[in-house]
Order: sequence, then C-alpha cells, then structure tokens
Amino acid sequence: MLTELWLTIGMKISHKLLLSFVSISLLTSVVGVVAIAQSKKIAETLAIKEAEEVAQVLATSIVHHSATHGESIFSNELQTYVLQLHHLQRRDIEVVNRETRIVADVVPDDIGTILEGKQGKEVQKTIQDGQTRTLLENSDDYPQGIELIVVPLKRDQNQIDGAVILEWSSLYEEAIAQVQPTIIIIAITSLSCVILALTLGWQISSSIAKPLQSMTDVAQTVTQKSNFDLKVPIITKDETGLLAIAFNHLIERVKTLLAEKEQRSEELQQALSDLHNTQLQLVQTEKMSSLGQLVAGVAHEINNPVNFIYGNIIHIDKYTQDLLKLLQAYQYQYPNPPQTLQKILDDIELDFLYEDLSKLLQSMRVGTQRIRQIVLSLRNFSRLDEAECKAVDLHEGLDNTLLILQHRLKDTSESFAIEVIKNYGQLPLVECYPAQLNQVFMNVLLNAIDAVEESAQQQTTAKLWISTQLIADNQVQILIADNGTGIPEKMRSRIFEPFFTTKPTGKGTGLGLSISYKIITEKHHGKMWFESRLGEGSEFIIAIPVHQCEISG
Ligand SMILES: Nc1ncnc2c1ncn2[C@@H]1O[C@H](COP(=O)(O)OP(=O)(O)O)[C@@H](O)[C@H]1O
Ligand SMILES: [Mg+2]
Repeated sequence: MLTELWLTIGMKISHKLLLSFVSISLLTSVVGVVAIAQSKKIAETLAIKEAEEVAQVLATSIVHHSATHGESIFSNELQTYVLQLHHLQRRDIEVVNRETRIVADVVPDDIGTILEGKQGKEVQKTIQDGQTRTLLENSDDYPQGIELIVVPLKRDQNQIDGAVILEWSSLYEEAIAQVQPTIIIIAITSLSCVILALTLGWQISSSIAKPLQSMTDVAQTVTQKSNFDLKVPIITKDETGLLAIAFNHLIERVKTLLAEKEQRSEELQQALSDLHNTQLQLVQTEKMSSLGQLVAGVAHEINNPVNFIYGNIIHIDKYTQDLLKLLQAYQYQYPNPPQTLQKILDDIELDFLYEDLSKLLQSMRVGTQRIRQIVLSLRNFSRLDEAECKAVDLHEGLDNTLLILQHRLKDTSESFAIEVIKNYGQLPLVECYPAQLNQVFMNVLLNAIDAVEESAQQQTTAKLWISTQLIADNQVQILIADNGTGIPEKMRSRIFEPFFTTKPTGKGTGLGLSISYKIITEKHHGKMWFESRLGEGSEFIIAIPVHQCEISG
C-alpha cells in the first residue's frame, strides 16, 4: 500500500531518492540525539544512584550513631559527623528535621534556619512521601546553580525523621565526563552517517537520474523529430549503462523496422500502380482488339463483294460500250426508224444516255476503288495478323489512321473541315508493333482534332501538321501538331496520368495519352513528350528507334 503510494507520487526519481536519503539521515540524527540523551540519562541515573547511596549511608550512620549513643538523632555529634563526611567526600551536606529546619550543615551558621522557597517545598515533599528528589539550587553563591539530591532520613521503614540534602554536581559531572567519549563517538558517527547518506544519496540519484534524463531527452527528440540516428551516451557500466545500450538497440531496431515498412509500402505502391496500369492496358487492349476484330471482320465481309463489283465494272463498261456501238450501227443502217421505235428512242434520250452512262461508270469505278482503299486501310489498321514486332512503313500507318478519322476531318453539318498538312521525310522501314503504334497515332490525332474543334469556335482555320523525319542514333521522329486550344500550364504535368481528362464525361476517359506513353516508352523503348502554348496549339513528339525487334525479343 505504502510502496504503491510511493510509486504513484508524481516526483522525479532523483528527488525520491534524495528524499529517502534525507529521511535516512534525519532518522540517523534522531537516533544519535536519542542515544546521546539516553547516555546522559544513564549517567544522571548512575550519579543519582551513587548520591542516593551516599545520602543513605549518611542517614543510616546518623540513625545508627544516635541509637548507639542513646541520643536524639539530631545531637551535636551529628554536626561533627557531617563535617567529617564533608571532609571525606568533599561535598556540601545539610541535614534537616521534619520541619525543614537545618540541624547540621557544613556551613555551621546556617544551623537553625528553616529551608524556604522552592528548595524548602521540595524537601518538604520528600519528608512527606519518602521519595528521593533532585533539584537545582540557584543562589547568590552559585549563580550557575548546584545540583542537589534530597534523601529521606529514616530510622525504620515507617518513620521519616527528616532529610539529608547532598550536593552531587561533581558526581553528575563525573558521570557525564565518563560518558562524554561515548557521546562524542555517537555524535561523530551520526554526523558522518548523515553526511555519508546525503552524499551517497546525491551521488546515486544523479548517477541514476542523469542517464535516465538523457535517455528521456533522446526518446523525446527521436519521437518528435523522427530522427533515428540519435544515440544515448553510455557513461556508466552499471544497469543504467546496460539500459542505455538496450535503448540504443531499440532505436536502431525501430529505424530498420521503419525503413523496412517504408520499403514495403513503396513496393506495395509500385505493385498497385503496376496493377492499375496493367488493368488499364488490358481494358484498352481488349477494347482495341475487339475494335480491331470488328473492323477486320467488316473489312473482310465488304472486301469480296466490292472486288466482285470492281472486277465486273470493266466488263459492264465493255458490254455497254459494245451495246452502244451496236445501237449506233443500227441507227446508221436505219436512219428513219418506224414511229413506235422513234417514240422509245425519244423517251430514253439516247444522246444524254450515251454521255451520262460513261460518266456514271467512271464514278462507279472511282467509288469502288475508294471502298477498296478504305477496306485495305481498315485491314491495315487493325493488323490483327501483326501482333509481333515487324518492320513497317510508318507513313502507311499514319495514312490509314487518317483515313479512319476522315469523318472527323471533313466538312459536315456538325463540324467544319480540318486541314491536314503532311510533311513526310525519307524514312526506312521501322521495326515496331504496328497495331499498337497505330493506336498511339489514333489517340494523339483524336486529341488534336478535339483541341482544334474546341478552339475553332473562335474563328481560326483548323489545321493539323504531321511530319516525320529520321534523326540521329537511328531514330525516327513523328511530330503531330495542331493549332488548337493548347494545354494550360498547371495541367502539363498531369496529362500523361491515367484518367486525367478535361473533357466532359462520356467524351474523355483520360486513358489515351497514358496508354500511348506506355506503348512508346515501354514497348518501343522510345520517348514521348509535348510542347504547347495556351491558345496557340500543341505539338506531340514521338521518337522511336528504327531497330528493336531483336532487343525486344
Ligand atoms: N493536342 C492537345 N491539345 C490540348 N489538350 C490536349 C491535347 N492532347 C491532350 N490534351 C489534354 O490532355 C488530356 C488527356 O488526354 P487523353 O489522355 O487523351 O484523355 P482524353 O482525351 O480522354 O481526355 C485531355 O483531356 C486534354 O485536356
Ligand atoms: Mg484522348
């Protein structure tokens, strides 16, 4: 209970220790004082005992003397006897009768006087109750006072005839002198104990408190500033030293644990972002692959009938030319046909038919040729058969993509025409993943079209520039620029982030550029960046190596 209370007191350990040692020293001094007082008391008791014995002997002698000489106990002999005793013992002696009148005294002039005052009262008490008393007499003769002892004068147990008053200062002093060395030893020992306790207390408390304090300081700094490089100084080799070593180990351990934790969370973060990206790519790849399949399927389905039509147009042309030739021959042979025939000839407007039929056939030929071209582009764009690394003509890919985007470039009721300015350089065949690269062209071109459409509402001719060139280090560079809105400064750092979009929901997904960036940098070991001026337009630059199929495996 008490220990619990002691532990719960809100006090520093050093103060508690110091308090304990101060208490111990106080206790020691109290014990010392008590011991000294006790020694004095013992000395006093011994002195009293001796004085009592002397007084008793005196009393017995007086009584005996009177008995043997058959006189009253207070005879003249008594005075002589007292003087003799005084001579022997060198002490003041007075004998009083029951009325406290002095009957014998070392100072004979005092005989006959009655003791009065305090002394008289005390003596009277002893005569009444038979108890020995001590008292301090202050008189003109003894300004410092003399110690007196009053012993009853008894002839037998029942009768008190008076009292013997004996001076016992010297006895007392003697006794005190005897215990003096003991008292000094006790005093010195107690004092030494107090000093020792205090110094030890101070030493121990500071030897415990100081390391503890420095440990507390270090612990606080470590937690507040997260500085795990701090160490507790190891001053001693005792428990506090061991504690300091253990504490330093603890800090070290926490540091490594935190580092591990940090690394693990970084790994997790990385894994998460990888997962995210993979997911994105999967979604996009899946989207593009189903789009590709659809496109390829449609292209394939259209291809046969179109070829069939295209192939037959030549024959139709020939057959109709033949038929027309035949008709002309008939007209030549029969310049005046019968009425009914002439009527039909007028109705069908033969001259117009001659003229229009060849035009019609010509436009049909152009139309089917166009369809064939589109089908080819669609097949090329989807390039389902070309999932692996392959050397291709990049211009073909760009053109195919443009062809697919034709509907966004043409002047329609919903939008206006966008001028495309191509500036193709001399490029070798470039090793790449064609389908994926086309996807990049598509994303960048779509963004450019969105940007010019948005800004063209402010009266500018919408333009796209597509240029290619072979640059140093066997690299090709594709630049796709627009005079669209441009990219605001604060968004520039974010446009390659997945899901970053400024377009309304449903229109933008924020995936185009992030996927394109991945395709260029990771799949093609290339670079992709952009330059932009707000309100003037943007330019996206893609650079990829000419050869890489070997490296990519
Ligand atoms: N040519 C460009 N001009 C202006 N802003 C562009 C251009 N290209 C991309 N951006 C900006 O980058 C954002 C992200 O593009 P992208 O990843 O393709 O996603 P999305 O087109 O779905 O918004 C766009 O929302 C747009 O703000
Ligand atoms: Mg986009």
